[in-house]
Amino acid sequence: MDPLPLRLGVNIDHVATIRNARGGHHPDPVRAAKMAIAAGCDGITAHLREDRRHIRDDDMRRLKAEIDKPLNFEMAATDEMVRIALEVRPHAVCLVPEKRTERTTEGGLDAAGQRPHLAPVVHALKHAGIRVSLFIGAQPAQIEAAVELGAPVIEIHTGGWCDALTEGRAAEAAAEWQLIRSGAEFASGLGLEVHAGHGLGYASAETIAALPQIAELNIGHFMMGEALFDGLLEVVVSMRAAMKRGRGKVAAS
Ligand code: PXP
Repeated sequence: MDPLPLRLGVNIDHVATIRNARGGHHPDPVRAAKMAIAAGCDGITAHLREDRRHIRDDDMRRLKAEIDKPLNFEMAATDEMVRIALEVRPHAVCLVPEKRTERTTEGGLDAAGQRPHLAPVVHALKHAGIRVSLFIGAQPAQIEAAVELGAPVIEIHTGGWCDALTEGRAAEAAAEWQLIRSGAEFASGLGLEVHAGHGLGYASAETIAALPQIAELNIGHFMMGEALFDGLLEVVVSMRAAMKRGRGKVAAS
């Protein structure tokens, strides 16, 4: 298949984490979002967690008001978050599982096991004109559940693959990659738009960009870490270049 254009969404949560370490307003995640956009990303992702450990309610409102690219609002499927999303009206919502004690989003949403809980959330957000995506593992049962729930988009959790790669667990990395690859094909064949994210760096983004079904990558931790050394502008440019190299491999094959 012809590859889709591949978008880069930059997750700016970590800028808010640093700000919150001292309270106050510096560094400002909205400033980082504007800089990432100026450097060429296609959208901004921010996760409003129940405990507000990084992004705060007002950050979401300011992002919506001040950036000129799509805002992807990551959130748990709770009444409180649905209320805020309906007020902020982001371009997109990505529904994620959330545990208070986790350091980051550890696994995918159990869309298959939580259908009755998720159905009204997906419905309410879609009804408001918000594009809904489900952050899931690439297992066929989860993908089928996304279709049944009426979500137009899934984001495949790449964390397990990326961890296995960086920790040198080759067999596990190969198995995870196979799951991601076949999941992307399966989901796209069912009419879903397929995104991917979690744990991606330059090399893994380049690899996954070669999957023609993937339309968007959402990346935060690696890029913010690299920005300490190279600056955010340069990191966005380098990430885009890695993605372009990967996508070029589809076009060439
Ligand atoms: N996509 C989703 C749904 C996430 O929850 C996260 C982490 O907040 C990311 C992408 C980005 O992951 P990372 O920060 O590891 O790049």
